Amino acid sequence: MTTQPRMILPAGQRAPVLSMQSVDKTFNGNVVALQRMSLTVNEGDFISLLGPSGCGKSTALRLIAGLMRPTLGRITWEGGQGADDLGVVFQEATLMPWTTVAKNVWLPFRLRGQSFAQVKDRIEEVLALVGLEKFANAYPRELSGGMKMRVSIARALVTNPRLILMDEPFAALDEITRQRLNDDLLNLKARTGATVIFVTHSVFESVFLSDRILVMAARPGRIIREIAVDAPYPRGIDWRTSPEYAQIARETSDTLMSTLAPEETH
Ligand SMILES: Nc1ncnc2c1ncn2[C@@H]1O[C@H](COP(=O)(O)OP(=O)(O)OP(=O)(O)O)[C@@H](O)[C@H]1O
Ligand SMILES: [Mg+2]
Repeated sequence: MTTQPRMILPAGQRAPVLSMQSVDKTFNGNVVALQRMSLTVNEGDFISLLGPSGCGKSTALRLIAGLMRPTLGRITWEGGQGADDLGVVFQEATLMPWTTVAKNVWLPFRLRGQSFAQVKDRIEEVLALVGLEKFANAYPRELSGGMKMRVSIARALVTNPRLILMDEPFAALDEITRQRLNDDLLNLKARTGATVIFVTHSVFESVFLSDRILVMAARPGRIIREIAVDAPYPRGIDWRTSPEYAQIARETSDTLMSTLAPEETH
């Protein structure tokens, strides 16, 4: 298994990974969860889907994950889709409580029929990446919320997937833990070259992390604007406190507010 980081080229020179072409998803014949969503994801991108509740963010991730099919339109993986293409992180860490951290991280390999011994080194490596090398034999109940989320991220990274989907992974964490995990996520991304689609309600989180923000609106769920965040990585406290950050956050927030009905803005 390769553990070499992927090369991250400048935006504009990156190879495509996946594209959505005019995807619609309608539930029960009348709920338009997504309308004409188009998106090209390139290698090394960090894309946020930002929008109010019900605008179709999770639906978009489920469609990309192949858990549902579009009502209209197409989702295409460059070069076809394989078993190692996706890692997924949800809002809840969704760990198996009856087994250890290392065995939890083994899960994606186990599902493919690989023994623990075969992949033990890779599991140790990825636990070190998320700062949990000393907790391989701990049980989930012994960990804080932030640590559980790190295990969940390690599990998503362990197979070195082409694309990682994260659905509000830090929403249930306190603010300080959330900021630390944001910093750590960017470090991880820099070290692994991961390509990420990240769902959030938080303007600040999306501006801190992403190189592209897709602002979405509800009823019908759709992308209303793409905002490029050109600040170089690595990003840290200097970025978080810069005038450019404040300006993009303001612009993003204004765009988001413009999508809400008047009664929702109070
Ligand atoms: N399985 C389903 N059956 C019927 N309607 C659904 C289903 N899944 C989602 N919807 C509807 O589709 C719309 C988009 O839902 P989705 O969960 O994608 O929104 P979201 O942006 O992830 O919201 P949140 O921020 O609250 O998680 C909503 O109106 C929701 O009620
Ligand atoms: Mg959702």
